[in-house]
Amino acid sequence: MIVVWILQKKKEREDKMEKKKKFEDILKATGRVGVGNVLAELDRLGFYAAPASTRFHGAHPGGLLQHSLNVYDEAMLVREMQLRIKPEIEARLPPDSIAIAALLHDVCKAEVYKPEQKSRKNSNGEWERYNGYRADYSGFPLGHGEKSVIRLLRWGLEMSDDEIIAIRWHMSGFDLAFQSPEIRSSYGEASDKCPLLAVLRAADGLASHILEA
Ligand SMILES: [Fe+2]
Ligand SMILES: [Fe+2]
Repeated sequence: MIVVWILQKKKEREDKMEKKKKFEDILKATGRVGVGNVLAELDRLGFYAAPASTRFHGAHPGGLLQHSLNVYDEAMLVREMQLRIKPEIEARLPPDSIAIAALLHDVCKAEVYKPEQKSRKNSNGEWERYNGYRADYSGFPLGHGEKSVIRLLRWGLEMSDDEIIAIRWHMSGFDLAFQSPEIRSSYGEASDKCPLLAVLRAADGLASHILEA
């Protein structure tokens, strides 16, 4: 029994290392100024062990890394599909921009979810304790997409306008409920002018609601 447990833990560790390597290799391959520093900062903040949410998609250690890789895979597929239908937009959807936007859109979450003991009823109707998460936005309270962008620029990542716009607005309607007309108009302009935003939004939705459901 103990041998099975040890082998399982070893496999989990190897899977985690493999995913981290894939994430790092794709970003390094962009050759973008600042990638090395971004990777060091993500390590420092605990990005690779973080969950993607407290109780929705990817609410487990490593969930955020898995989500980011899923969004990347989905975004590359969405890109390929769109280029088949509309090849003239290829210059607006370079693979490097897909990598930057998809893998780094949620770096705002790196340090937000803290482990916490929670209670729930099991299948017998009895209360039980389990390891969950709570969100704590006090570390760097800036919002969501805008926090990712500010963080990346501050870490010295060279980013195109499209990458900034796509990451800033990737939450679309969720970000608009309490916003001013100016912000809503900016979002409308971004949606009209940035195909990378449309690809990222689609990929984020497909990853969260289908792959990680
Ligand atoms: Fe997000
Ligand atoms: Fe996301």
